[in-house]
Amino acid sequence: MSKDFTKDDIITLAIESSCDETSVSILKNGRTVLSNIIATQIEQHKKFGGVVPEVASRKHIENINFVIGEALEEANVTFDDITHVASTYGPGLVGALLVGLSAAKAIAFAREIPFNGVNHIEGHIYANFIEHQELEPPFVCLIVSGGHTHLVYMKDYGEYEILGKTRDDAAGEAFDKVARALGLGYPGGPEIDKLAKIGDKEAIAFPKAYLEEGSYDFSFSGLKSAVLNYLNSQRMKGNPIVIEDVAASFQQAVIEILVEKTMACAIEKGVKQITIAGGVAANSGLRQLLGKKAEAHGLHLKYPSLKLCTDNAAMIGCVAYYDYIKGYRSSLDLNGIPNLKIGERH
Ligand code: KG4
Ligand code: ZN
Repeated sequence: MSKDFTKDDIITLAIESSCDETSVSILKNGRTVLSNIIATQIEQHKKFGGVVPEVASRKHIENINFVIGEALEEANVTFDDITHVASTYGPGLVGALLVGLSAAKAIAFAREIPFNGVNHIEGHIYANFIEHQELEPPFVCLIVSGGHTHLVYMKDYGEYEILGKTRDDAAGEAFDKVARALGLGYPGGPEIDKLAKIGDKEAIAFPKAYLEEGSYDFSFSGLKSAVLNYLNSQRMKGNPIVIEDVAASFQQAVIEILVEKTMACAIEKGVKQITIAGGVAANSGLRQLLGKKAEAHGLHLKYPSLKLCTDNAAMIGCVAYYDYIKGYRSSLDLNGIPNLKIGERH
């Protein structure tokens, strides 16, 4: 045991491999990150315009041992210091999930230490606990990533009430598809965010789907189609397309819906804090608009730094720690579950 640790400290080695990042983190007592190594595969997937599952699985296999080694080295620990192991087991690409999950289970088995499987989406919420050491539930959290769009009321650690979710495309998926139609690179969110800063957000009135009165669900496929139709009709008419304006108008339509529904949930639940999480939580327009609205209602908005917004293992280790101290343990026959829901336990 290294001199900085006491025998009561829980030293977690956490692995994330649900999509296109192989990440390993070492944490002390869930919230102190000793290392958080992220090997991204973005370059490998860029030429295909999106993540290719077979390529992702193969790259995770190539990377995993190396990334584990780096995480241990940067944290200045060895396997002898590790007292707890964690891995994402869903949702995600099953072949990708199995790489991290198998590595974590192998470590737990070989070292005879406890193991917790973690829900990736819960991980995104917990990125806020690492960023804001004083943050405690309850709060309303908007989770917006490439695969998920959820509005969640987090009552306590491990206790969630899902208030709304997307009925079709995830917010990040809409960003990526619109970016692709505009000829921008992958992932599209950051590219659109950049262009939106110099475009006119009122240039084009794209439709916003608020759905039925009082619903906290989302729908982005109509908006995405409206952007594609706009681009086609401009091209057919030979009109110029100002991509900065398209980016700004599209982004505005997405964030206005996200902000309005998040605020309504926070007010209904009577919480004092709002958090955002997931890759799209990196969006500067979303941070600004939600921050302004929250402040106007006397609420505090918290979000993770850019590195903790996108996929990383530190957020997975944080969930695993709170599950562990609540007495939960996962079995070593835990399987990868591609469509795992928030709050579901296996
Ligand atoms: O959470 P994440 O890293 O992976 C998933 O679990 O899906 O999220 C990736 C998504 C992509 O769709 C990407 O385009 C989007 O987050 N994203 C952004 C921004 N940065 C990343 N979307 C809007 N604005 C950004 N600045
Ligand atoms: Zn994610």
